[in-house]
Parts: sequence; structure tokens; C-alpha cells
Amino acid sequence: MGALAGIYRDGARQMGAAMRSIDDLDVHGRRVLVRVDFNVPLTSGADGRPELADDTRIVAALQTIEELRARGARLILVSHLGRPGGERVPELSMAPVAARLSELTDAKVTLAPAVVGEEVKALAEALHDGDVLLLENVRFEAGETSNDPALARELADLAEVYVNDAFGVAHRAHASTEGVAHLLPSAGGRLLEREVRTLTGILDHPAPPLVAIVGGGKVADKIGVIGRFLQLADVVMIGGAMCFPFLCAQGHKVGESICEDEDVAHARALLAKASDTHSPQPGRARLLVPSDLVIGDRLADDAQHRVLAGVEVPAGWMGLDIGPKTVERYQREIRRAGTVFWNGPMGASEYEPFAAGTRAVAEAVTDAPGLTVVGGGDSAAALAHFNLEHEVDFLSTGGGATLELIEGASLPGVAALEGAGVAGAVGR
Ligand code: ADP
Ligand code: 3PG
Ligand code: MG
Repeated sequence: MGALAGIYRDGARQMGAAMRSIDDLDVHGRRVLVRVDFNVPLTSGADGRPELADDTRIVAALQTIEELRARGARLILVSHLGRPGGERVPELSMAPVAARLSELTDAKVTLAPAVVGEEVKALAEALHDGDVLLLENVRFEAGETSNDPALARELADLAEVYVNDAFGVAHRAHASTEGVAHLLPSAGGRLLEREVRTLTGILDHPAPPLVAIVGGGKVADKIGVIGRFLQLADVVMIGGAMCFPFLCAQGHKVGESICEDEDVAHARALLAKASDTHSPQPGRARLLVPSDLVIGDRLADDAQHRVLAGVEVPAGWMGLDIGPKTVERYQREIRRAGTVFWNGPMGASEYEPFAAGTRAVAEAVTDAPGLTVVGGGDSAAALAHFNLEHEVDFLSTGGGATLELIEGASLPGVAALEGAGVAGAVGR
């Protein structure tokens, strides 16, 4: 108990509702559990083993990691990778992440064989100042997404201090993002701070017209925020798998494209809320959906694929990118935007036949005269792949988290770091 007294530096508890920062923590010689978002895109390597497709999110966490190491902390990093559903899925091991992290830091990086347990605890206790232990994929534990207090307690027991730098997953109330923050002296890392400050600031009074572009694959997660964007933005453009519920609601055939019934119901309500495209109504955005598509028979670099002149997807085919007419229409809107906010690729852009729409939108966004903000792990990876990552004003590591922040929601991962926090003693 006593050993933990005084972890908060002077003044930290006067910060009121603001998020505590790592400046408020005394970390020297202490084990610090750092939640990072290393949920990076993977590809299949030459030997069939998973390989990193993009390291943007690892690089983004380095500032906090190196600063804590320089201050003599012993780091225990924890992240999810994909959605293994509470089971150990070998393809979603953190091994490729550990390998990349060792290349990016001088620290000794050890990959733990599990998330928690006796062996992991022993590894944590054997750490020296500046060492890094990366836990296995925290979503191998079912208690992560259910925010199980028992898992939060096991995570807390590994360390003396908790730092959350995982902005990309701050919209989830999970054991490693929310539960554990209540059990240890805790603070937000540099990336989390920068993301929250920048996004809140730049989107406070966006220069009109505000163009929001929403694509990607996490349709059920993200369709909810579109309603809010219809009030905030002037134009909302839909791409990626997100367009199929809208096309289906308009009566088009979607073939084998990703399209769930409840998303269609949601899309129908959103279409009714949008402004008439031909005679815009104030306070309501125009909602643009694709008018042509690229279709394919599967998600692969050597998939059969062709441009579909309209949006009636034949049986046996999937819509996997927006088509050239849609690209032109979207580019026109983007090029006259005062502010652009973009999350989610326009198609399955990690596969060459379905990358053109995302590339074209990325080029238009980087040409836009106004402020440009792009968010999302896969969106960032696409920009990096096109060498355009430095051409936007702000590249956020958050996808869903960024959308929720902009729509005005409180992020549980951030909220847990506000207020007085846990005092020195943590009841052990
Ligand atoms: P971000 O990481 O930028 O927030 P998401 O994770 O929501 O974006 O979506 C990225 C994923 O969506 C990619 O893996 C991509 O292949 C997939 N995707 C995009 N468009 C389609 C589509 N039409 N059909 C199937 N998957 C798609
Ligand atoms: C993301 O990639 O948006 C974050 O890592 C969150 O992942 P999740 O949508 O699986 O919670
Ligand atoms: Mg993603």
C-alpha cells in the first residue's frame, strides 16, 4: 500500500474534470501498464504467416513509450488486434507487432505468452527500468470486451500505474481501456491527449462547407454517427461497405455485398432525414451514395472484377469499390470543401483491384483547399500506401473513436481518466 503513495505528482488532483496527464505521475522505477492501440492492418506474408501491412499506430505510440522509458518506467504494453472474440486465435497474435516494435525502439521488448496469469506476472516483475513487456492480444480474454472486473483486476495487479494512450479504442468501455483505469493511479498518454485536443479544437468551428466522407467495413458501429453528421455537415458522402444498406434501402440489388437488415432500416431513416439533393434544405446535409461500383467475386488481389455502370449488383458478385462516375462526383464536392473529415476506405483498398476509389478520394482530399482531417487505422494505412500521409492536416489514429468524438459523444476511455482518480493506495 505504502509503496504506491505519492505516485501522483503535486497538483494532479486539482485538475478537476480535465484528463490527467503523464506529467502528473511519478513513474521512476515503477511498472506502468500502458494501453496502446496496436490494432494494425495485417497481410499474409510470403510463408503464409501474418505480417504487418502498416505500422502507423505503432509509430504514433512511440512518444509516450520513449518518454516513460526515459523517466525510468518499466513498461507493460497491452493492446487488442482484430476481433478474436475472447479466444486465442494464433493468426491474431501480437508477435508481428512485437517484432516491429523492437525495430522501432532501443528497448528490450519481450512478448508475453498470454495476457495475464502467473507466468506473465513473473515476467512483469522481472522488468528493469526502461524494459518493455508486450502482453498477448487482450481480446484473447473474453473479459476484455465485457469489461469484466476480474480481468481489470488481473491487469491492474501486473503494474503500479496505468496510462491509456489508445485513442483508437477510447470509445470502447473495455477492461483494459476503462475498468483498469479505476483501479490504479492513471493518466492519458501523449497520443491520447493530442488526439482529443486537436480534434476537439479543429472541429469546433469548421469552415463551411463541411464535407464528411464515411466508408470502411465497420458498418453497424459507424452508421449511428451519420445522423449527427447530417446535422453538422453540408455534404455526407458514403463509400465502402457502408453504401450497401443505403443502396438496398433505395431498392437496389446488392448481390453478395456486406448488407445487414438492421443497417438497412437505419439507412432508410437516414435517407429520410437528409436534405433533398436538388433543392438543399438548411440545417440538413445532402447525403451522397455511389451511382456506380467496382464489383468482384472475392476479396483477393487476383479476384475477378469489373466496373458496373449502375448500382444493381448481380448475384454472385460483391460491390468492393466505388466506380469512376462516383469518384468524379465525390472529387468535385471535396475540391470545394472548407473542411473535410474522412473515415473509412471507399472500398477494399488493401486489394489492388479495389483500391482506385480510395486512391482518388485520397488525392482529392489532399488537394482540398480547406482543413483536412482523416481518421482510422485502415484509412491511415491506405494514405501511407499512396504516400499521402503527410499531405493532410491531421491524421488521427482513431476511426470509430474519432467519429464519436466529433459527434459529441463522451469517450469512456477518456472519461475514466478525468476527476480525482485513484489516490496513492490501491487496496492491495
Ligand atoms: P478504419 O480502420 O479506417 O476506421 P474500417 O476498419 O471501418 O476503417 O474499414 C476498413 C475495412 O473495410 C478494410 O479492411 C476494407 O477492406 C473494408 N471494406 C471497405 N469497403 C468494403 C466493401 N465494399 N466490402 C467489404 N469490405 C470493405
Ligand atoms: C479501430 O481500429 O477502430 C480500433 O482499434 C477499435 O477496434 P474495434 O472496432 O474492433 O473495437
Ligand atoms: Mg479498421
